[in-house]
Order: sequence, then structure tokens, then C-alpha cells
Amino acid sequence: MQILAFNGSPRSQGNTSAIVASMLEGARSRGTQTTEVRLHDINFKGCLGCLGCRKNPGFCSAKDELSPYLEAIKTCTGMVLGCPIYMYRLSGQMKLFVDRIYSLYANLPQGGYKSMVPPGKTYALAISQGAPDPVQYQKSIMYLTGMTGSGLGMDVVGKIVHTDSAEKPATGNQELLEQAFDIGRKMVR
Ligand SMILES: Cc1cc2nc3c(=O)[nH]c(=O)nc-3n(C[C@H](O)[C@H](O)[C@H](O)COP(=O)(O)O)c2cc1C
Repeated sequence: MQILAFNGSPRSQGNTSAIVASMLEGARSRGTQTTEVRLHDINFKGCLGCLGCRKNPGFCSAKDELSPYLEAIKTCTGMVLGCPIYMYRLSGQMKLFVDRIYSLYANLPQGGYKSMVPPGKTYALAISQGAPDPVQYQKSIMYLTGMTGSGLGMDVVGKIVHTDSAEKPATGNQELLEQAFDIGRKMVR
């Protein structure tokens, strides 16, 4: 796999999934391979709090269906995260994933963290929310990018914040999906 997407929406035909699909289509149009991990559909748990990754940075001691994909973050060329806003924050599925990402950071002796993911990867984000103001959940969105893409040293090439309504679902919204496609293209260098 080259571009790896983690989708935190349980709805395979929903807004987040439509935007992620277009981003991956854009990446494939540049000749790269893509893989989408639908977090709701795999059997994984949140962080065990065992702190094994403090002794062995870059490796999560928990072994489940997320494990090979955590490893794949180190070898992919770009990562997409898709997430709906639930109860003013990330979906639960995505939060479990973010906690497991802790294993990809090492503690620095002077404080702070260092990414254990090799540099040079691209990153894009697809968010869908019900509220009409696209900046309403800015803090949650910045948190997600900070803990994953930019925190791990990836280059953020694009972000979509879709505001859901009966008139404007992501599916069939050509302008939005073209924007997503374009971001996917930019993820391949
Ligand atoms: C449990 C739940 C909680 C939600 N909470 C919020 C919220 O706090 N703010 C908001 O703007 N939209 C909220 N929504 C609406 C979704 O974010 C919105 O419909 C989004 O488009 C769903 O994405 P999806 O189609 O990918 O599942 C919520 C939806 C659900 C099911």
C-alpha cells in the first residue's frame, strides 16, 4: 500500500466515506495503490495503558487487527484520516485509534516527544459535521491533526470540513468530491 486511509465513520455510505473515497481515487489516478481501513469494521481495542511503547518506542504491545496497520503507517507514503464529529468531538472509533498512535512516539530526555515514523509522508483530513459553521469544531480538528499527521512529522496537504444537511450530503456533491480528488492527487509526490 502507498496511501493508507483510516476512516472513523461507521457509515460506509455516509459523508466521510464519500470524501475519503474521492481522496483515494485522486491518489490512484496518479498510479499509486491505496488501502482504506474502516475502523468500525475491524476488531481492535483502545490503548491498554501498558506503557510497553515507552520502553520499545514505535511498537504497540497490543496485538489485534489494528496492529498491521499501525506498522503500515511507517512504510506508507501518505495517510488520510476521515472522521465525523460526534458529540462535539471525534467519533469514538477514531479516538481509540488516536490513543494507539501514542506507540509511534518516543519520549525525549528533555521532555516532549519524537515521531518514530520516517519523514517525507503526506497527510490529508476529511471531517464531516452537522453544524453549518465549518470552524465550530476547529479545536477538535486541530487536535486530530496534531496528534496524528503533523505530530508524526507528515506534510499536511489538504483538509476538508464538510457540513452535512439534507440538501448537501457529500455523496453527489460534485464540487466537494472534486476538491477531495484533487487533495488525493496532491498526496502523491
Ligand atoms: C452520535 C452522533 C453525534 C453527533 N454529534 C454531532 C455534533 O456534536 N456536532 C455536529 O455538528 N454534528 C454531529 N453529528 C452529525 C454528524 O457529524 C454528521 O451527520 C456527519 O455528516 C456524519 O458523518 P458520516 O455521514 O460520515 O457518518 C452527530 C451524529 C451522530 C450520529
